[in-house]
Amino acid sequence: MTSTYDLLRDRLRRAFDAIDEGADPVLRISERSDYQVNGVMALAKAQGVAPREMAARVLEHLEIDDLAEVEVAGPGFLNLTLTDSFLNAQLRALLGDDRLGVGLVEKRTVVIDYSAPNVAKEMHVGHLRSTVIGDSLARMYRFQGDRVIARNHVGDWGTPFGMLIEHLVDLGEDEAVASLSIGDLDGFYRGARAKFDADEGFKERSRSRVVALQGGDPETRRLWRMLVDESVKYFAEVYAALDVTLTPEDVTGESYYNDMLEAVVRDLDTAGLLVESGGALCVFPEGFVNREGEPLPLIVRKSDEGFGYAATDLAAVRDRVDHLHADEILYVVGAPQGQHFDMVFAVARAAGWLLDSVRCVHVAFGNVLGPDRKMFASRSGETIKLIDLLDEARERALSALRQRSLDVAPEARERLATQIARAAIKYADLSTDRQRDYVFDLDRMIAFEGDTGPYLQYAHARLRSIFRRLDAPWDGADVTFDLAESAERTLALGLLHFPEALDGALATLQPHRLSGYLFDLAQRFTTFYEACPVLSAPEPTRTQRLALCELCARTLSLGLSLLGIEAPDQM
Ligand code: ARG
Repeated sequence: MTSTYDLLRDRLRRAFDAIDEGADPVLRISERSDYQVNGVMALAKAQGVAPREMAARVLEHLEIDDLAEVEVAGPGFLNLTLTDSFLNAQLRALLGDDRLGVGLVEKRTVVIDYSAPNVAKEMHVGHLRSTVIGDSLARMYRFQGDRVIARNHVGDWGTPFGMLIEHLVDLGEDEAVASLSIGDLDGFYRGARAKFDADEGFKERSRSRVVALQGGDPETRRLWRMLVDESVKYFAEVYAALDVTLTPEDVTGESYYNDMLEAVVRDLDTAGLLVESGGALCVFPEGFVNREGEPLPLIVRKSDEGFGYAATDLAAVRDRVDHLHADEILYVVGAPQGQHFDMVFAVARAAGWLLDSVRCVHVAFGNVLGPDRKMFASRSGETIKLIDLLDEARERALSALRQRSLDVAPEARERLATQIARAAIKYADLSTDRQRDYVFDLDRMIAFEGDTGPYLQYAHARLRSIFRRLDAPWDGADVTFDLAESAERTLALGLLHFPEALDGALATLQPHRLSGYLFDLAQRFTTFYEACPVLSAPEPTRTQRLALCELCARTLSLGLSLLGIEAPDQM
């Protein structure tokens, strides 16, 4: 089916086009009528006529009677009220459409760089944000028909690996692997660090280990592989616990690009972009200056001849364009790395590796704060393990479920608790503007009331419970919607807004556009359910209301799935 707003936009565009080719009407959901059309005033300005006169002219060209009644409001807005017959036709089409009105785009290749934890280091809340936001974007892009290639840019290279490998050797391989596989990554890292700081001999050994690692010494590489493999295995457990779609095949860590780094330097040099500065090789991309107004370097090769983080990212851009044929590349990384990415993109464009046709976006996000509004950390200032957060959320969900004395088997209850815990944590993250900081408050996140994941899951389960009370499965074959009650109409309009909510989330790369829509829809349902009895209503009202419930349940379930949240049928 074609979505409601696409049908409306199409008619409007034709009318605008007749007056000024290419003029773009903007359609907004509005409280007063169903939609408000903006763009008349811009058109009026461009043509030098009074806005209300332009509105009258648009009306002359506008053929929309079968879809909506139009009214000119204010200084030149058009208010649209959808006709009963159009609403009925759209809702009927929605019932037969698995995609709930969302069209498919022409398939493109979208590379999404997200999660990117570091080997032998615990994943911290920053990685939680990257993982949850990135995975939701990946799901939305896939749903609209794009090919998504996830890249997990794991930190698996660099000088710390000297001390990590030496620590592994000291502990013995079995012991080291055991400590990594129980997920004590930080413990392992701290152990290595402590020796490095205290023991000169260890420090020396670590330094030569780095040289051996970079030189490709087979034994050193074997030990390094072991650290990487154990960590990647552990990350996979965390992803499974969170229900994140990343797989070990998506891991292309920093080391993946090692063989491409020489070419990066050579080609930048050939392009005349490379400058030596204090022994390091740098590019000074246009427009980047420090506070003193001096040009800022992107360091490609350090003075010790080692390659850094930026060189790897330059090689990665090239690889993603040349080998993955990306049409779009997203980097879901914390806001503090904004300048790094701006510079990497600028250099890649200057070098001709990144054409204008390839969109590159740093999908930045803010911090997770503790209750004291400082950076979220344990009392002793350490990072908090994601897996521990999830366990705690699960415990809370379990005790909430016990209090509800829900009639389900113990294993089903355990599973439900896991689903609720994930929903709580993911939704809290995905329901705020990603650029802003948010406070990690488990009590609020896990509550069944308010703008929370569990609340939306609960709304869905309530809807499903209506259908469980039917004697026979609902077939809903032939429904006519008259929407006599205003709460019915409000809910119906909400259902028809799903495609634009998803479009909004994708256009801004802001999952909270979708979560905000779902929360609004759940509230429309609650109002409806208070005002309109469903099962006890006489026919044909009963069938119509059941159909609205069915569509609402499906919309919540699909919408939540695009946020990476499951919608259980019962809770
Ligand atoms: N591993 C890095 C960190 O923990 C994030 C990497 C982000 N991705 C990238 N292509 N630089 O901060």
